[in-house]
Amino acid sequence: MVKAVVLGAAGGIGQPLSLLLKNSPLIDELSLYDVVNSPGVAADLSHINTPATVTGYLPKDDGLAKALEGADVVVIPAGLPRKPGMTRDDLFQKNAGIVRDLIVGIAKTCPKAFILIISNPVNSTVPIAAEVLKAHGVFDATKLFGVTTLDVVRASTFTASVVGEKDPRKIAVPVVGGHSGETIVPLFSQASPKVEIPEDKYADLVKRIQFGGDEVVKAKDGAGSATLSMAFAGFRYLTIVHAVRGEKGIVEPTFVYLPGVAGGEEVQKAVGGVEFFAVPVELGPNGAAKATNPFGGVTEKEKELLAIAQKGLQTNINAGVEFVKQSG
Ligand code: NAI
Repeated sequence: MVKAVVLGAAGGIGQPLSLLLKNSPLIDELSLYDVVNSPGVAADLSHINTPATVTGYLPKDDGLAKALEGADVVVIPAGLPRKPGMTRDDLFQKNAGIVRDLIVGIAKTCPKAFILIISNPVNSTVPIAAEVLKAHGVFDATKLFGVTTLDVVRASTFTASVVGEKDPRKIAVPVVGGHSGETIVPLFSQASPKVEIPEDKYADLVKRIQFGGDEVVKAKDGAGSATLSMAFAGFRYLTIVHAVRGEKGIVEPTFVYLPGVAGGEEVQKAVGGVEFFAVPVELGPNGAAKATNPFGGVTEKEKELLAIAQKGLQTNINAGVEFVKQSG
């Protein structure tokens, strides 16, 4: 039996993600929590004739603890999205506190659950989560993931359009680093199958993958950021449930705490000592089984992008750690 919990389930990402989960044979029990409207979303989804049971919870009557009770996987898309002109770091003030409080709930109720963080800025919210879990003595780096799958999905779509592949699903480009602007680094040299990016298109393609989210924010014109493509990507990352159910050998790029994952120390050395970094991670029934080192054959251009990413990431990580220290 697998119980999945969505925290922020009534939002732009939360609703379509919950729909995909309700439709998934991998989930037996779906628990939806939000500060508004989660019972409504749950009632609506509960009429779909798939086996997963759905329950909605609000903060009243200890709703967070009830929602989290017995959870195997908790996915967190709670918090404010961007408006035009905002960076993901501008969300820090609001979302840092939201994520901290939700993680306290997880630490108390279901400390062994897999935790998937979508709330931005991911580069800081994941370190915040790690610090809170550490403070409660329940931190396990193999169970904490920042969801960077939308960058992987975008890299596949945008690269396919440059190389003329009609089915973007056939192109897999590892995307490493973090999840904002220049911390996002696509490694075309490690793509499968091999891709040749024309010299004159390289810079624009990298930029589009790094700043693709801005296209959506601009087009939505104040109504938020990516929600449907994020729900798709979040659900794709929830193939992690295959791993929860015992399947081995699943590899997906994801943002993890390197020192706590097998193989992570080697990767950490390769990225200038940064502790949190997205690399392809092998998943197993107990979580992150191995962080793989994708840097063996990277090009000079990719090395330059990686150096920039490391610097930006370290600043974001420090901000998250400092936030938890300050808030006691
Ligand atoms: P939204 O505003 O539509 O939904 C957020 C939901 O969180 C709302 O229903 C709100 O009531 C709920 N919420 C707020 N405080 C809460 C709390 N303390 N506990 C539980 N729920 C709470 O926003 P949207 O578009 O769904 O985005 C959510 C987050 O995901 C944002 O931070 C956004 O930046 C991030 N995001 C991350 C991406 C990624 O690739 N990792 C991609 C796109 C968005």
